[in-house]
Amino acid sequence: MKNWFAFLVASLLLISNTIMAQDNTARVLVLIHSDHGGTYELAKEIAKGIESGKTVKAVIKQVRTSADPKLKDIPVATVDELPTYDGIAFGSPVYFGNISTGMSEFFSKTVDLWTNHSLEGMPATVFMSAGSGAGKELALQSFWNSLAVHGMVLVSNGIRGNENIDKNIPQGNSVLGITSPASLKNVERPSKDERYLAELQGKNFAKVALSLKGSFSKKTLAEKPKQKSINDILKEKNIVLPTLPKPVGNYELFSRSGNLVFINQVSLKDGKILNPGKLGVNVNEEQVKEATKQTMLNIIAILKDAVGGDLNKVKKCVQLIGTFNTKDDYTQHASLMNTASDLTVEIFGEKGKHTRNTSGAYSLPVGSSVSIQAIFEVE
Ligand SMILES: Cc1cc2nc3c(=O)[nH]c(=O)nc-3n(C[C@H](O)[C@H](O)[C@H](O)COP(=O)(O)O)c2cc1C
Repeated sequence: MKNWFAFLVASLLLISNTIMAQDNTARVLVLIHSDHGGTYELAKEIAKGIESGKTVKAVIKQVRTSADPKLKDIPVATVDELPTYDGIAFGSPVYFGNISTGMSEFFSKTVDLWTNHSLEGMPATVFMSAGSGAGKELALQSFWNSLAVHGMVLVSNGIRGNENIDKNIPQGNSVLGITSPASLKNVERPSKDERYLAELQGKNFAKVALSLKGSFSKKTLAEKPKQKSINDILKEKNIVLPTLPKPVGNYELFSRSGNLVFINQVSLKDGKILNPGKLGVNVNEEQVKEATKQTMLNIIAILKDAVGGDLNKVKKCVQLIGTFNTKDDYTQHASLMNTASDLTVEIFGEKGKHTRNTSGAYSLPVGSSVSIQAIFEVE
């Protein structure tokens, strides 16, 4: 009985200690944009400093998937999650004495957080990777501008740790936050001292985040109605995307320029043209519509490949251009093309609405009765 009672007391103590420990733990987001890894190297030191006190947990995330393979596995942060943290350390490359375009694009998506006062009172600190370091303090300052507009508590670095660094080489120390001049290769960058200052910055920031924890609202945005995933829509509507056709010449299946994807297709199905011929001569309207649907499915299959397999990244169908193999006096091209337009709207909803052009042609490649050119905007 006595043993049982002792066990109960010990368990209760353990549970209450765990709850207290959880309460005293802060979570800090280290949010970066990095093209080549310089900012990420600093981020790791900042995170190390943040976690040195044990009661603060650091999470490194990026604002968008980096094109650099060594950075592509860093999770991508959503704007909506920002208010859930107890502090945010922001890192970016210096771009023309400013924050990087990637970071700036991310900030441009935070308007709802701003008007909702979601980040007010939350501590923030900044760090940057530079080239030569030209304009680094302008850039750090520009970071502060955006964060001040959000009402965040800006945590500077001052001259913390400067007495311990090697003054014989250029160092990226700055009172606003650590930087590293990555193109100055007299030593490996970030230099040993820049890493040291980054860690100190993280350590100090963790102290501030812990002290301010619970003093601001962490007001998250009202939950938006969840958009149905395109995969679910395809399944629901029993739409099966074909396997990717192979290019039969010196061209690509798609071409991406910025956020636009360009795709051109004919009615290829299982390696053969579906319903080939000229409308009114050897194919009828129903057959051309079937070929048009197949052509649009080919386009969407290629589009899926262009967005890395996730059709939810499609922001808009911008334009479709349909060309049909018809006789001279044919005028109902629009009704044929509706097959492609309807399918696009059926799959992408509002995002599928587009401008359109249709025309007839005397002949089309490989005997196809239809050819479609499509332009999509993607994330
Ligand atoms: C568009 C652009 C503008 C840049 N402007 C500057 C600049 O004003 N000052 C500077 O020191 N470096 C500048 N750089 C260099 C980057 O800041 C530097 O390569 C940085 O280390 C990249 O960080 P990352 O390795 O995290 O991608 C610029 C780079 C680009 C692409």
